[in-house]
Amino acid sequence: MNTKNMSSVFFVFMFVCVSSVFPQDDSSKKILLGFVQVSSEGTWRMANTQSVKDSAAKEGVELIFREGQNNYTNQSKEMSDLIASGVDVLAFSPSQVEGWDGVLQEAKDVGIPVIVLDRAIDVKDSSLYVTHIGSDMIDEGRRAAKWLVSYLEKQGKLKEEMHILVLEGVKGSTPAEHRDRGFREVLATYPNLKIVHSEPADFIMSKGQEITERVLKSQKIDIIFAHNDEMALGAVDAVKSAGKVPGKDVIIIGVDGIKKALEAIVSGSLNATIECSPLLGPQLMKAVKDLSAGKTVEKNVVTEEKDFDISNAQTELPKRVY
Ligand code: AHR
Repeated sequence: MNTKNMSSVFFVFMFVCVSSVFPQDDSSKKILLGFVQVSSEGTWRMANTQSVKDSAAKEGVELIFREGQNNYTNQSKEMSDLIASGVDVLAFSPSQVEGWDGVLQEAKDVGIPVIVLDRAIDVKDSSLYVTHIGSDMIDEGRRAAKWLVSYLEKQGKLKEEMHILVLEGVKGSTPAEHRDRGFREVLATYPNLKIVHSEPADFIMSKGQEITERVLKSQKIDIIFAHNDEMALGAVDAVKSAGKVPGKDVIIIGVDGIKKALEAIVSGSLNATIECSPLLGPQLMKAVKDLSAGKTVEKNVVTEEKDFDISNAQTELPKRVY
């Protein structure tokens, strides 16, 4: 080794020694969060995205935001891409209940913790994600059915035969599958409350309207349960077009608790909405920071939510931001 090489080796050696005694202060380094949103359409989804973006900015978390256009393949690709780019934490709101094992294993293999936001998932190995933050959507379905039962009881109609139309969300998605399961579970005790038609309207208002208009032409419908408020509001318009009074001739229940739904309850055209909060940003950032600090986080953080009808919608309205 010549003199030049020896001095280079000496300097590298000295640098390593000094660095280990005085480690570099990287406390100013921001946590890098990759978030793959399911889609961009609808009032609920826009409020959810805004909540995540605002909270990241407030908490000083650097956010890489991607969106999957309601498509499983797109979403998986975006997730793989963020894993390969080396984010500190990965979060996503899944388009469907199943099928995430592979991409979550990719994250686990390189030590990236994954947070499931909003919709729960089914995976064979639950250690593939660290936490789920969001609603219990099976319970939302149960709450919708329980609200209906108690309403009919108060009206003295609980024993009457009633025909129900269900407007489903996107097939295979957690809100559609779980809300349906919870709703049917409670209705199983009331065989006179019959689901006579159930069809996906994909969480979209215009589809909710179209399907309701078509079904009302061929069947007697007394009750409509929509897996979200947008579809419920579409159903309100369809009932009006059919010359009936929504909220009276046809009982209509939605899910989410968006401002427009609360207004429709106050005006009498919608009977109830089961709240599902999109404002999950603050809880997400808390989990991101806790994980980065090496703390353990709860496996399932369930959002606290209410049911709204004519008894409390007006009081809630001024507080609603979405
Ligand atoms: O995952 C939340 C659900 O998804 C909301 O109920 C719905 O409006 C959205 O599409």
